[in-house]
Amino acid sequence: MKANTNEPKNKEFMMNRKTIMSIGGALALTISAAPSFAADGAEVFNKCRVCHSVEEGKKKVGPSLYGVVGRTPGTLAGYKYSASMTDFGATGAVWDAATLNTYLTNPRGLVAKTKMIFPGLGDEAERTALIAYLDGLDG
Ligand code: HEC
Repeated sequence: MKANTNEPKNKEFMMNRKTIMSIGGALALTISAAPSFAADGAEVFNKCRVCHSVEEGKKKVGPSLYGVVGRTPGTLAGYKYSASMTDFGATGAVWDAATLNTYLTNPRGLVAKTKMIFPGLGDEAERTALIAYLDGLDG
């Protein structure tokens, strides 16, 4: 019977089709989420995630970034900052969008002896999206 010889091949084809269709579905979801500004920033935040949480009060290697926009540098209770960071806060600095933008471009350019070991984010669009994301965390 000729039809039988072909059957396994057809089944395989059907499975591949199913797999391809579910991949297509996942892509469609990703694309529909992409135009949102906050979604981009959340993605950029993956570069910070290893050291920072966005959960209120949850410290990792670095302090929680929940509510960081508007915070005086080096002042989140329960986190032990470098002297360099608390000194920076004592100058009257505030983590507003402009200060964050400068810091995230080159952390050590702004806070010379910060213990944040991060080379900086070179892409301005990424920094802007990230800061908007951080700003939106506490509503
Ligand atoms: C390798 C770990 C690490 C990475 C990656 C990292 N940070 Fe940090 N971050 C730290 C540490 C440690 C501190 C505390 C710095 C100090 O006390 O000098 C800090 C401090 C900060 C502060 C100051 C917060 C405050 O309460 O004053 C901000 C803002 C910040 N990080 C943002 C970011 C962002 C945004 C990213 C991702 C682009 C990032 N960091 C990536 C470790 C990291």
